[in-house]
Amino acid sequence: SFISIKSALTDSAVVGSRIGVRGWIRTRRDSKAGLSFLHLNDGSCFDPIQIVAPAELENYEDEVKNLTSGCAVECHGLLVESSGRGQSVEIQADSVRVVGWVQDPDTYPIQPKRHSFEFLRDVAHLRPRTNTFGAVTRVRNAVASAIHRYFQERGYYWITTPIITTSDAEGAGEMFRVSTLDLANLPATPEGSVDFSRDFFGRETFLTVSGQLNVEGYCLALSKVYTFGPTFRAENSNTPRHLAEFWMVEPEIAFADLEDLAACAEDFLKYVARETLEHCESDMAFFARQIEPEAINRLQHLVDQPFIAIDYSEAISILQKSKRSFEFAAQWGLDLQTEHERYLTEKHFKAPVIIKNYPAEIKAFYMRLNDDQKTVAAMDVLAPGIGEIIGGSQREERLDVLERRMREDGLDTETYDWYLDLRRYGSVPHAGFGLGFERLVGYITGIANIRDVIPYPRVPGRADF
Ligand code: 4AD
Ligand code: MG
Repeated sequence: SFISIKSALTDSAVVGSRIGVRGWIRTRRDSKAGLSFLHLNDGSCFDPIQIVAPAELENYEDEVKNLTSGCAVECHGLLVESSGRGQSVEIQADSVRVVGWVQDPDTYPIQPKRHSFEFLRDVAHLRPRTNTFGAVTRVRNAVASAIHRYFQERGYYWITTPIITTSDAEGAGEMFRVSTLDLANLPATPEGSVDFSRDFFGRETFLTVSGQLNVEGYCLALSKVYTFGPTFRAENSNTPRHLAEFWMVEPEIAFADLEDLAACAEDFLKYVARETLEHCESDMAFFARQIEPEAINRLQHLVDQPFIAIDYSEAISILQKSKRSFEFAAQWGLDLQTEHERYLTEKHFKAPVIIKNYPAEIKAFYMRLNDDQKTVAAMDVLAPGIGEIIGGSQREERLDVLERRMREDGLDTETYDWYLDLRRYGSVPHAGFGLGFERLVGYITGIANIRDVIPYPRVPGRADF
C-alpha cells in the first residue's frame, strides 16, 4: 500500500515502518559508495522525499541507474530518520519499480534547473511538475477552498450561473460569440447581417462576462448568494493582468448598501489571506524565497491593517497634487489608469485601497446613481502590485432610473426585460462585487504574470493545450 509523500514527511507515527510512495523523479545522484539518491515528488506537498536506493536492488544497474528527471516510480522501504542535510526522514528502499520511463530524456522539457516563465508557458501541460507550478496549484486550491468556506460559514448559497447567455452583463461589448452556424458560408441577407434566428438558440448568444445579472435574481429570493465560475472577456488586452478566460467570485447581498459591501470585501480578503498563511506555509515560504520577498509580509499586512477607503474625487485630487508626472494626467471623469492605481497603492498609501463613488459615465449601467446625479455607488479594491482585484457596486433598484441608464448606454431593454422584472416585483436595495480569482492568486503568490497562476491560460492569439 502507498501513502502520500506529505504523510511520509510529516506524520511521525510512520517513522520506523515500511511504507510505499509513488510519484515522479526530480533528481538522481549516484554516490561513490555504490548507491543512488532519488528525490521523488508526488505533488502532495512542496518537498520531495529522498529515497536511498542501494546497489543490492535487483534492478539497480539496469533500471535505477538509468532513472532521469520525470520518470514515474513506485518505491517501498523503511522510513528512517535521515542523517543527511536537507531532510528529516528518508526511505531506505528495498524495491524501486519503474512505472513510466521518460522515453527521450534529452527532449524532456522539465530539467532540474530554473526555467523561465515564458519557456514554461509553451509546456503548460508539463509545468505542474516544477516547484513553482506545484506551489501555485496548491495555493490556488487553498484560496478557492477558503473562498467557499468564507461564504458557506456565513450563510451564503453558491449559485451556478449560465456560461452561454444573450446578455452583456457589463454592457461593454467584449463578448465571445457562441454559434453553431457556419458563419463564413452563410447566404447573404439583404441587410448584410447574420440571421441568428436559425442558430442553435434561435438568437445571438455569447459566453458570459459575469454571472452578476443572473445571481441578482437569486439574491432577491435567498438574500445572500455568490457565484464562483469561469467568465470570458474578448478584450484585446495583452497585459500581465488580463486573461480572456478567468474565474470570478461574485457575492450578492440583499438589503445591503455600498458601506456594507465594502466591509464585506475587506473582511473577505482578510479571511482568505489568513487562511492561506495558515494552510500554505511551505508554499508561501517558497514564494518569499524565490519569487517575491514581500509575499508573506504583505499578506500579513493585509490581515492586520484596516483598508484605506477614499472617494474617487479624492483619488483624483491626490493624483493631481502628486509630484509624479504620469503618462496620462488624472482628470475627474476619466477612468484611473494602471499607473494611477499603482501610485495610490504602492507610493501614496502603501496599502490596499478601496475607491468609491466613481463618475456614472465610466461605470456600468446597473450601478446605483447617487443623489448628486453624477456619481454611482461603485467601489474598486486596488492592491499594490496588481491594481484592481475587486470591482463592485450597490445596484440600481429603481425601475425608472435603471431603464433610463440602460437607454443611455444603448442597451436593448427587451433582452434585459427579465432583469427589469427584478425591479418590478419586490425590488430592494442590494449590492455585490466581483473578485478576479487569478488576480488574487497573483497577488498572494507574488507571481507577476496572470498567465502563470491559471493552469492553461487563454490570451489573445493563444488557446492551445
Ligand atoms: O470590474 P469587473 O468587470 O466587474 C464585474 O464584472 C461585475 N459584474 C462584478 C460584480 O459586481 N458582481 O470585473 C470584476 C473583477 C475585476 O476587479 C478584476 O479583478 C477581474 O474581475 N477581471 C479580470 N481578471 C482577469 N482578466 C480579465 N480580463 C479581467 N477582467 C476583470
Ligand atoms: Mg472593474
